[in-house]
Amino acid sequence: MNKLYFGNNLAVLATLPAASYDLIYIDPPFNTGKVQSRTQLRTVRSEQGDRVGFGGHRYSSIKIGERAYGDSFDDFLAFIEPRLLEAYRLLKPQGSFFFHIDYREVHYCKVLLDQIFGRDSFINEIIWAYDYGARSRKKWSTKHDTILWYAKDPENYTFNYDQIDRIPYMAPGLVGPEKAARGKTPTDVWWNTIVSPNGKEKTGYPTQKPLAILNRIVRVHSNPNDQLLDFFAGSGSFGEAAARNGRNFTLIDQNPQAIEVMRQRLAFAEPEFYEIPKDII
Ligand SMILES: C[S@@+](CC[C@H](N)C(=O)[O-])C[C@H]1O[C@@H](n2cnc3c(N)ncnc32)[C@H](O)[C@@H]1O
Repeated sequence: MNKLYFGNNLAVLATLPAASYDLIYIDPPFNTGKVQSRTQLRTVRSEQGDRVGFGGHRYSSIKIGERAYGDSFDDFLAFIEPRLLEAYRLLKPQGSFFFHIDYREVHYCKVLLDQIFGRDSFINEIIWAYDYGARSRKKWSTKHDTILWYAKDPENYTFNYDQIDRIPYMAPGLVGPEKAARGKTPTDVWWNTIVSPNGKEKTGYPTQKPLAILNRIVRVHSNPNDQLLDFFAGSGSFGEAAARNGRNFTLIDQNPQAIEVMRQRLAFAEPEFYEIPKDII
């Protein structure tokens, strides 16, 4: 069964039963332009630490500056942490979590995720490289996003090798015609263009992610009829990938425009619709 929730994801997630999802993908927003005057802190493991964190370890906070990676850094970690804890709670024992994030924030989030999932659960850092748009004259143009993959149990997770799509060899002349025709499996660097501004995939919703990227994640990291969750759903790209590949989706977004786009885009999958009252959280 497919479900679409309109509301604050933290409120919705709290209502969902533990260990009920096989695959969770999120692509949270991050406002890199925001100016705040907060101090940036980093949490480090320390026997003298004044906080007890995940796994009963002690942590202390160290000041790393007034403006490292923009001033919204502190707020973003405070915002995302309870949601990451929910993701962990909601994953089935063999489930996987995919976290799509900005290159400026990924390192801080990785430390947080390592604390929540355990370092051994970190399997891959996937670089989605897109090479589209204007070039900088002042630095190397930043043309990638990062997707972190955590498996709840690093010894036992879904990885459907046979479902990996093939890509062309860079030098097909070096591998012989049979191999060249079959292509090769991608590495942890995924070259894929952004959603074309004029293409038929485009919904008009900002930050829409390409189906090719999400189809790959869905096919390789879940099985037909599995339960999939995206709680920053936006235009519903992950939901579309789930439904078109025979999986069930739960999608959450608090923006009425996202809900409008998803209701149209995902009508074919007939999701049940739920609205969470605003006064909850
Ligand atoms: C980067 S967009 C996701 C784009 C999506 N991956 C796609 O392909 O269209 C992030 C989304 O998170 C939603 N969002 C932000 N904070 C939220 C919250 N607390 N609860 C639910 N949705 C939230 C925003 O409305 C936005 O649609």
